[in-house]
Amino acid sequence: KAQAQALKPMYHITPSTGWMNDPNGMFQNRAGIYHVFYQWNPVAPIWGSPYWGHVISKDMVHWERMPPALVPDTDYDYDGVFSGSATLLGDEDGTPILFYTGVSNFSELQYYEQVQAIARPVNASDPKLKLWKKSPNNPLISQAPQGGTLAQFRDPVTAWKQDGLWYTVIGSMESCFGTAALYSSPDFQTWQPAGQWASQASTGQANVGECVPPAVSQPGMGQCDQFGAVCHMWECPDVFQLGNDTWVLKWSDQSKSRNPYSMDWYVLGTSAAFLGNRSQGNISTGGEDIAHFQSTLQSTPQSVDYGSIYASKTFATNDGRRVWMGWVFETSTGCVEQCSGGTNFTDSLGWQGAQTLPREVSLDADSRALIFNPIREVTELRSQMLYSNAALALPSNGSQELNLTQSTSLGRQIEVQIAFAPAANMSQGGQQPFSVGIQISTGQGTSTLITVNGTAAATTNGTLQIAQAGVYVDRSKSGAYTNATTQGRLVPLPASGLPAAEVSLRVFVDRSLLEVFALDGRGRVTSRIYPMGTDNSWGVSPFGTFGAAPATANVTVWEMGPAFDPEQAQACC
Ligand code: FRU
Repeated sequence: KAQAQALKPMYHITPSTGWMNDPNGMFQNRAGIYHVFYQWNPVAPIWGSPYWGHVISKDMVHWERMPPALVPDTDYDYDGVFSGSATLLGDEDGTPILFYTGVSNFSELQYYEQVQAIARPVNASDPKLKLWKKSPNNPLISQAPQGGTLAQFRDPVTAWKQDGLWYTVIGSMESCFGTAALYSSPDFQTWQPAGQWASQASTGQANVGECVPPAVSQPGMGQCDQFGAVCHMWECPDVFQLGNDTWVLKWSDQSKSRNPYSMDWYVLGTSAAFLGNRSQGNISTGGEDIAHFQSTLQSTPQSVDYGSIYASKTFATNDGRRVWMGWVFETSTGCVEQCSGGTNFTDSLGWQGAQTLPREVSLDADSRALIFNPIREVTELRSQMLYSNAALALPSNGSQELNLTQSTSLGRQIEVQIAFAPAANMSQGGQQPFSVGIQISTGQGTSTLITVNGTAAATTNGTLQIAQAGVYVDRSKSGAYTNATTQGRLVPLPASGLPAAEVSLRVFVDRSLLEVFALDGRGRVTSRIYPMGTDNSWGVSPFGTFGAAPATANVTVWEMGPAFDPEQAQACC
């Protein structure tokens, strides 16, 4: 019990008990309240017939638990209320509509039959939107997508309106490639297939890698294609506009061989790519659209995060921000009681899974890449400053342990904000290596190393310019039950490089959950560590050099407060 408590994140969204996966249907209602739903198995800390759990907040960082919004209890969804989105019927009265995948027939067909359904608030004027009812007309979409099957057909995106029609995109698969199927509706009730909208092939992403078919094969899933790759559909797509003429398509792909860094991807395109030439009565036919889509894309696929996140999605706040959230899955290793009838280590804790802190998405026009930073409200989680020094000199060998203010829960739930600068001018001339970072000690000899390294050169006017940089989380000493692999990769930078004064790290440690933002959100690594024991000898030690010169650090450390008030004494709204 003490161990479960010591490892359960406390300032992130976690399940009260049981299993959590994807974030679903996030929105902010007209009353200003944020609603987040999530895939939830309240019965056990393992995946199974999901519900939609529901939490609400006034600030996106302090949450109140609501009763489950959707329960798998009807003939088309008794095997699970799978992922989906929310759409505010903006032109009408702003009523939120939950759009989800109903799953049934597993034992009958030996595969999941997937159809699309909606639900509305029982009382739209209740700001907490506590109760939801499924439409009597469900399922609204039960026609298989072009080239695909109902076995791989899920996770509808927030619908958008174009020329008087609603459009949504649903994850699917054709011939072993992930696809996004387009559907349209005049009234959010009657939906028509409108062709294939985008596909893995249209992003230029090939199937590569080893195929290991799973024990239980489902139609089209777990098979191996002619390249020896395992087939994967596109799960949890997301589509949104960012700025004047930039659109983003995000998808989730379980293929680890295709993507050693992460499994959530995005591409950028113009509105011409995303909206195409559709109008009522002139619904596009898949093939033309795909070619059009491909020809107007503005980036190759890029990683959303280099760590342990999946099934992420976004929503628009009332003040115009695009906010992203993703599922942080468990990566613990080992079994309690050698797994012979025992359970996986994280099952045994009684809960699994969390959501990231909400991140604000912006576009770096220079590198044509997305930047993700924690939303500004995250500072409201800070409960106490433990350390602050604007000009900490770092040794040129080793690290400098900070003397953190004592606290009973020292280090278990902290935020570290740090910017590095060279202590002395670097000599001018060619590229020289730099390496900065922090070591987080987590008791009983365990520690995790977070590093930003790359190359930098002094320019003629004396400033230091970063030409290449990567961000890495080394977990080789992070404790028993931790997956010891290093996570991270090179960060996309503007062609002209970055001033060295922008070598920053912002690190959130929440017991077993680590979120790392490097270079002002240009690089992100979300990681899991499982240091055992409950001793409080935690610490933070920055280090760094630029060429041969030591670095100085501007560093502040805060202790963080909880996301959920256990008494619900300060109910959200
Ligand atoms: C992604 C996913 C979705 C599905 C849900 C089921 O993690 O597989 O495609 O809707 O989880 O829980």
